[in-house]
Amino acid sequence: MISIIGSGSVGTSIAFLCVCNALDDVLLINRTKSKAIAKSLDLTNAIPSTSKFSISGTDDYSKLTGSKIVVITASTKTNLKNRTENISQQVTMIKKIAEKIKVYSPSAIVLIVSNPLDVLTYFFQKETQFSRFKVIGVASSLDTSRFQYHIAKKFSVLQSSITNALVIGEHGDTMVPIFSNIHINGQFFPMSDVEKDSITLDVRNYWKTLRDYKTRSQFGIAKNVYDVIDTILNKKKISVPVSLVLEGEYGEYNVAIGVPTKIDQDGIIEIQNINFDQSEKNLFKISSKTIRNNIQSI
Ligand code: LAC
Repeated sequence: MISIIGSGSVGTSIAFLCVCNALDDVLLINRTKSKAIAKSLDLTNAIPSTSKFSISGTDDYSKLTGSKIVVITASTKTNLKNRTENISQQVTMIKKIAEKIKVYSPSAIVLIVSNPLDVLTYFFQKETQFSRFKVIGVASSLDTSRFQYHIAKKFSVLQSSITNALVIGEHGDTMVPIFSNIHINGQFFPMSDVEKDSITLDVRNYWKTLRDYKTRSQFGIAKNVYDVIDTILNKKKISVPVSLVLEGEYGEYNVAIGVPTKIDQDGIIEIQNINFDQSEKNLFKISSKTIRNNIQSI
């Protein structure tokens, strides 16, 4: 069973993808029971006729029992001006959710989506003491897809022609697009500092651009979360940047931050090393320090 905590636009978009693709039974959990039930009744009508799976809604955390995967999309407030606004309320919320997941689904793989993503990934893992390889913050893959979008747009190429574009670091204003290994149509594609700075700003501000259009992300993050769920449940393997607690990798200890990983049915099976230049390493250090400061502010 896939349990999704939070029946807002992100949680229900993830549920929609899981239901349409008949991945597994889905449980929507929301503090407002009627909202979870209403969304599940609507989503029930998207279940393929050949699917043996169902979807239900509740506010009862005990129904989490038996979940293979738990996705946390809940937020104490919507329409945030930035991802760290409301940080203390979000940490309080994630600690309460962690207690319940520890009781009802201690063997689940947990995907954190709520913001501030890296801080909540850190506190969830510390509260539950779950294996750090089974507490996965999904966001750097979304940032990477935005990175690819802006490269394609700037150089008028297809996104599919771009390889080795990667964003790591904080899922926030200090995220680090890695330009060092980018290839377009199989050819290494060096860029000027002006081009790099412009694309970096576009990627970091993508979230804010959505707000300028009076909207919030929903489908991009949902598909990135779905890809991880699909990998786990269908025993696939993917290389994808995600946030997890590091214990020495990339020279970082006791902080959750986006890094390249390999994921399979058991969760994260490898933290992958990549070549990146000194300026990118410096930016990664700034990013990890930013996350640490946010953790220590609680
Ligand atoms: C965003 C949210 C998921 O970057 O943090 O759109």
